[in-house]
Amino acid sequence: MKDSLLMLISFFKKPKETGAITISSKYLTNEIIKNIDFKNSRNIIELGPGLGTFTKAILKKANPDAKVVCFEINNKFCNYINKNCADEKLIVINAGAGNIRKKLNKLSIKKVDCIVSGLPFRNFSKAKKEKILAEVKNTLNGNGRFVFFQYTKDISTMLGFYFSKVKKSFVPLNIPPCFVYLCEN
Ligand SMILES: C[S@@+](CC[C@H](N)C(=O)[O-])C[C@H]1O[C@@H](n2cnc3c(N)ncnc32)[C@H](O)[C@@H]1O
Repeated sequence: MKDSLLMLISFFKKPKETGAITISSKYLTNEIIKNIDFKNSRNIIELGPGLGTFTKAILKKANPDAKVVCFEINNKFCNYINKNCADEKLIVINAGAGNIRKKLNKLSIKKVDCIVSGLPFRNFSKAKKEKILAEVKNTLNGNGRFVFFQYTKDISTMLGFYFSKVKKSFVPLNIPPCFVYLCEN
C-alpha cells in the first residue's frame, strides 16, 4: 500500500492520534534534520515516527554506532517501519511517548542527545502534554535537543516552562504548513 494511503486510512480511523492526513514533506524533513547534531549524537529518540519519513533521513546520517529508538503507538506503523527502514541502528518500540524513561531503562540508556517528534501535541490533554514534555526534558543530556513540528503555535507558552532556549521556524511547503521548534535544556 502507498505510504500516503496508509496514513490517510489511519487518520480516518483515529484522527486525533494520527494527527495528519499525509506524510511530512521533504522540506519539513530537511528542516527537522538540519537541527540534529549527528556528529555528536549517539542516542537519538523519535516520537511518533508514523511511516518513517524522518526515520529514514535520520538513519542515513546517524553515526554507524548510534542507536535510533522510535516510540510509535500505532502497531501497523511499527510493522511498516520495521519492514521499510530496517537498519542495525534502529529499535522500534510499540508504546506511547509517556513511557520513554521506563522503556529506555530496559535498554540501559540513561540520557540521549536528541529527541525528534512528530507527535500531534495539539490533540493531547494538558496532562498528557505535561507528562511527555517532562519525560523529554529528563531524558535529554545537558546539551541535548528536542526538535519537533506542530501545525499551530499553541504549545509555545508551555515550552517555556520546560526549556531554557526555544527557537521556532516556519515551513510553508508542507500539508498543512507548519512550525518547527528547536528546544534546549
Ligand atoms: C502527525 S503523525 C507524524 C508522522 C511522521 N513523523 C511524519 O512526519 O510523516 C503523528 C504520529 O504520532 C503517533 N502517535 C500519536 N500519539 C502517540 C503517542 N502518545 N506516542 C507515540 N506515538 C504517537 C501517531 O500514530 C502518528 O504516527
